[in-house]
Amino acid sequence: MLMNKIEKAAIDNPARRALQRLYEVPTLLRLAGGPLPPGANAVEIGCGPGYGTRLILDRFRAAHVDAVDLDPAMVAKARRRLARDAHRVRLAAGDATDLRAAFGAEGGSYDAAFDFAFIHHIPDWRSALDEVARVLKPGGVFVFEEVTAHALARPSYRLLFDHPTRDRFTAEQFLAELPRHGLAVRGSLTRVRGDYLLGAATRMG
Ligand SMILES: C[S@@+](CC[C@H](N)C(=O)[O-])C[C@H]1O[C@@H](n2cnc3c(N)ncnc32)[C@H](O)[C@@H]1O
Repeated sequence: MLMNKIEKAAIDNPARRALQRLYEVPTLLRLAGGPLPPGANAVEIGCGPGYGTRLILDRFRAAHVDAVDLDPAMVAKARRRLARDAHRVRLAAGDATDLRAAFGAEGGSYDAAFDFAFIHHIPDWRSALDEVARVLKPGGVFVFEEVTAHALARPSYRLLFDHPTRDRFTAEQFLAELPRHGLAVRGSLTRVRGDYLLGAATRMG
């Protein structure tokens, strides 16, 4: 489900970028056990305007990132933001549940997959996890930062933003789903009230 205008403004501004740079990425780097190995090939799903992709290149030190978003306008913004790294980034407009269509991604294509808050936008969110697991190599890492049903039920979220209204997940439901897709949580997690969940999981072979 695409973002409405208010959510687009809420995620694409200097304050949100500072939050990603100064809190979210340092937390995710700690939970994932540090930057990716040299030469790592990553995919970012639901890349929005591409600031997360920039941080995957610079802070997680991915050698290459495939970044996809359902919204062609977001992909165009990301393309402008990432122009100086065009040789390390491939962008596509496409659906999270079909990375074969977006990039020709076969099973086991990536060392890392990144979810900066896109899965709660997908009505059939389990299919998105299926696709993450399919495209990861055994031993690859799934880095996630998610927004739970608890947050989406808050008046601010309900009044301002558009999200799927059925089959939302709590943090516990999201975590319970991971092993069903061969994804095992690495060590600890970070929870912000009941609203946000940050963590990393390994794709089991
Ligand atoms: C909350 S935004 C997060 C954007 C970016 N990752 C960030 O953190 O700034 C969710 C993004 O998921 C995208 N999205 C929603 N449904 C999608 C789908 N089925 N496939 C790919 N992207 C999708 C939206 O267009 C939006 O850019």
